[in-house]
Amino acid sequence: MSEQSDFLVIGTGIAGLVYALKVARFGTVNVLCKREPEEGNTRYAQGGIASVATSEDNFATHIQDTLIAGAGLCREDVVRQVVEAGPERVRELIDWGVRFTHGHNGATHEMEYDLHLEGGHSTKRIYHAEDRTGVEIERALLERVRQEPNIRVFEYHMAIDLITTAKLRQFSGANRCVGVYALDEKAGKVRAFVARTTLLATGGSGKAYLLTTNPDVASGDGVAMAARAGVPVANMEFIQFHPTCLYHPMAKNFLISEAVRGAGAKLVDENGRRFMDKYDERGELAPRDVVARAIDHEIKTRGVECVYLDFSGQNAAEITEGFPGIYERCYELGIDITTDLIPVAPAAHYQCGGVVVDAKGRTSVAGLYAVGEVSCTGLHGANRLASNSLLEAAVFAHEASADAARADLPLPSPKDVPEWDAGSATDSDETVVVSHNWDEIRRCMQNYVGIVRTDRRLLRAKARIDFLQREIWEYYWNFVVTRDLLELRNIAVVADLVVTSAMRRRESRGLHYNLDCPETFDAVPAKDTCISDYQKTFAKFAKVQGL
Ligand code: FAD
Ligand code: SIN
Repeated sequence: MSEQSDFLVIGTGIAGLVYALKVARFGTVNVLCKREPEEGNTRYAQGGIASVATSEDNFATHIQDTLIAGAGLCREDVVRQVVEAGPERVRELIDWGVRFTHGHNGATHEMEYDLHLEGGHSTKRIYHAEDRTGVEIERALLERVRQEPNIRVFEYHMAIDLITTAKLRQFSGANRCVGVYALDEKAGKVRAFVARTTLLATGGSGKAYLLTTNPDVASGDGVAMAARAGVPVANMEFIQFHPTCLYHPMAKNFLISEAVRGAGAKLVDENGRRFMDKYDERGELAPRDVVARAIDHEIKTRGVECVYLDFSGQNAAEITEGFPGIYERCYELGIDITTDLIPVAPAAHYQCGGVVVDAKGRTSVAGLYAVGEVSCTGLHGANRLASNSLLEAAVFAHEASADAARADLPLPSPKDVPEWDAGSATDSDETVVVSHNWDEIRRCMQNYVGIVRTDRRLLRAKARIDFLQREIWEYYWNFVVTRDLLELRNIAVVADLVVTSAMRRRESRGLHYNLDCPETFDAVPAKDTCISDYQKTFAKFAKVQGL
């Protein structure tokens, strides 16, 4: 059975929820998410949301910090747009009920919020809710969404592919997105969701790597769906590794926030010796690509598995009050962060590139928008400044919602969209193939397409991923779709896009560091790596099907 609405939203992180709340004034909204609505990268955000708030700060400085981190690839107009919209979007979150931590740090904001400092920021400007900012944002936004009669949330509904008029071949005129097919996991059925406009707010793709701070839902589905539909995807080589993911056999994807270093924790080796000064005069507060590379170097040259964060000399009460979530999680694992060293290692954290959008969040296909981590707006360039992504999502959700509300696109009828055709697919009795390939892709990305790359490693990764793509496609057409299979298909596409983009960039810049081309081209303007014909690559792997 198909579902119809004016607006379709894929994702319930900050991007999807802010957008849904705004467009609900103009029509019906269907919102899909893969698991429970709370689950996604937003929920795990610790540090907070960056925005100018005090008389010691100003837009020019936040813009400058963002441009420096972005290593020559940011779009300055977009940086200005996002930074200048920050105070209004933060105010809106507060009005919707987000409770940021208050403090007495001399802020001129009328409510005197406690602002944190993070790497790459030249002053304190990070609004946070203790160290559980994402939990608080999700709580407040979902509470509002549940009060909104125009919004329906479909949990455990995984979007599989975009439905475009070009694919349907029964509409004339320019290509347009009319919705998605989604797997209703609980019913075990694929349904069509049609709408005037569709928003991709599917978050990032950390699961393409073995070590990641991201939760399981972050398998790059939106980027993969867009690429398969021929929508341009850019800058996928810029995968940000967070320097300090907790390194412990029982800790799955647990982040130790950058704000911990902002609060004075030092990075030390197994002998308790500081090392960051050797790498950058900003020490522990250098931008995270610099810190992640330094840690990677220490780990590889010393033959160790991790380095440590050291809070010694800091006030214990301030640590436990400032970082209750980190304190509790570490304590459960036998680490008292007020006295013990915290073992940490870099892990894939954020996808700086993504689906190419304009200043209103519009993709190249009419009726299709992308907001949040799935998108490439030009804000982050070659490296994202800490705590700029929640801000970007809030600002672009606002812009895209205003545009979508004005969009003069007819409401497609479910009758125009065929039911999902499973062909002769059968239930698979070889699910081991899926888990094996899943593991192989993630290991391959970790080993060959990590913090430091070489031409040879990239070639090796490309060969492995091409081989795995063929196997996955064969499996896809022959067996009934499951979430695991769909996610595998998507991380394979993401891996391919990352490797292909990394091979195309013949320089080192920001997060992309290749020992075989260590220079940064000084050409102005620096260029994005844009892949706009992925459907051709995909045609190589896919059997010719109606969709
Ligand atoms: P997400 O919050 O990831 O939401 C994605 C949504 O899409 C989910 O609802 C998911 O179910 C749904 N979805 C995905 N695929 C499908 C599909 N196929 N079908 C249906 N639904 C789908 N940024 C900051 O600015 N400050 C921070 O302090 C910060 N800390 C972070 C800490 C951690 C541990 C992590 C992982 C990230 C952090 N980030 C931080 C980054 C930031 O949290 C994310 O970039 C941001 O929250 C992404 O929001 P989003 O709405 O784009 O996606
Ligand atoms: C953190 O708290 O260190 C994460 C901040 C971010 O990813 O922006």
